[in-house]
Amino acid sequence: MSSTVPETRLFAPATIRGLTLRNRLFLAPMCQYALNDRDGLANDWQLTHLGARAAGGFSLVITEATAVAPEGRISAEDVGLWSAEHEDRLARVVDFVQSQGAAAGVQLAHAGAKAGTEPWLPGYRGASLSAEQGGWQTFSPAGINPVSNLAPSTAMSRDQIQDSVGDWVAAAQRADRAGFDVLQIHAAHGYLIHQFLTPVTNQRTDDYGGNFDGRTRYLREIVAGIRDVWPEHKPLMIRFSGSDWVEGSWSIEDTSAVLNHLPGVDMVDVSSGGIGDVYTGPKPGPGYQLPLATRIKTDHPDLFVSGVGSITSGLQAEEALQETGIDALSIGRAALRNPNFPVEAAAELGFAKPDLPYAAQYWRATWPRNPQPVS
Ligand SMILES: Cc1cc2nc3c(=O)[nH]c(=O)nc-3n(C[C@H](O)[C@H](O)[C@H](O)COP(=O)(O)O)c2cc1C
Repeated sequence: MSSTVPETRLFAPATIRGLTLRNRLFLAPMCQYALNDRDGLANDWQLTHLGARAAGGFSLVITEATAVAPEGRISAEDVGLWSAEHEDRLARVVDFVQSQGAAAGVQLAHAGAKAGTEPWLPGYRGASLSAEQGGWQTFSPAGINPVSNLAPSTAMSRDQIQDSVGDWVAAAQRADRAGFDVLQIHAAHGYLIHQFLTPVTNQRTDDYGGNFDGRTRYLREIVAGIRDVWPEHKPLMIRFSGSDWVEGSWSIEDTSAVLNHLPGVDMVDVSSGGIGDVYTGPKPGPGYQLPLATRIKTDHPDLFVSGVGSITSGLQAEEALQETGIDALSIGRAALRNPNFPVEAAAELGFAKPDLPYAAQYWRATWPRNPQPVS
């Protein structure tokens, strides 16, 4: 009997190092600001939120920005990975995500000058927490903030930079012990690594600043340190802002160039923005950032490249993969609306039970497409 499973790029499995992903839909990393105890310890919210999206068919479920050090949290309610207890809490989430057939990814992050902000106050636009609200002193490459509504940040000393590289590597070791399959380094959106990359905020005069070589040194040291401890069979991924859309700042040419100096990186997710107060990029809409990811795939055909931005349906996603030649798509807000986005996408593309990537427990949900007796 011939197969009725449609031929798609979206639901073609992919293998990177020792990991096989069941399709090309990734849950984008999304801060949840859900830890009311402000201790960085993942709790039932992460288990439920990420677990639901693993059951909903995503092939790679990536955590929210997970801080490598307490002072690197974007908000006080963020998840962290700076102790064995943090590792244990995330291990529980990883186990469940993997039990649903998804790979578990952790996005390691340090917000630098963008740390210690308040997401919940009325009028929030990433402004800093005051000391009375539990804010803390933030750090940046040169004491220059990427956006203007932040409290003053302190320029990092060389010792602080080297300690910080150590924090990333230690967090990577914990991520491995917690069982994560993929480690994503957050180098995008104006956070600490990005603050080092762009000359707008990195005006250091030592060898961690200045020219391209200096500005990329912090990232290169993080990647080298992590690749040393991150197992050979596990993929290493980076998320870049492919462009800041700011004249004279980090560009797609820079993103492409730095990838020539990051041996051991297997996967790249290409987003954009995060430096400057005024958005000057292309009008957001379906696929508006994908030309950046496409450029990276063209320049680096051996890298596994994913794109992100305003993809809201399976048909759009399939078309985007076919048109651009990139390898996968990260889904953000559409996956907040619908944890079963991949299931819906499969249905749109003509899959039927039993080929839908459904959790077995939900098999009757395909009614009335696949009528079944209900007794
Ligand atoms: C609530 C929320 C939280 C986010 N937090 C993160 C984050 O922790 N790390 C990150 O790299 N991007 C973060 N992003 C950006 C998303 O990963 C994604 O790039 C963005 O939402 C665009 O994709 P979309 O149009 O599919 O939503 C966040 C976005 C949202 C909506």
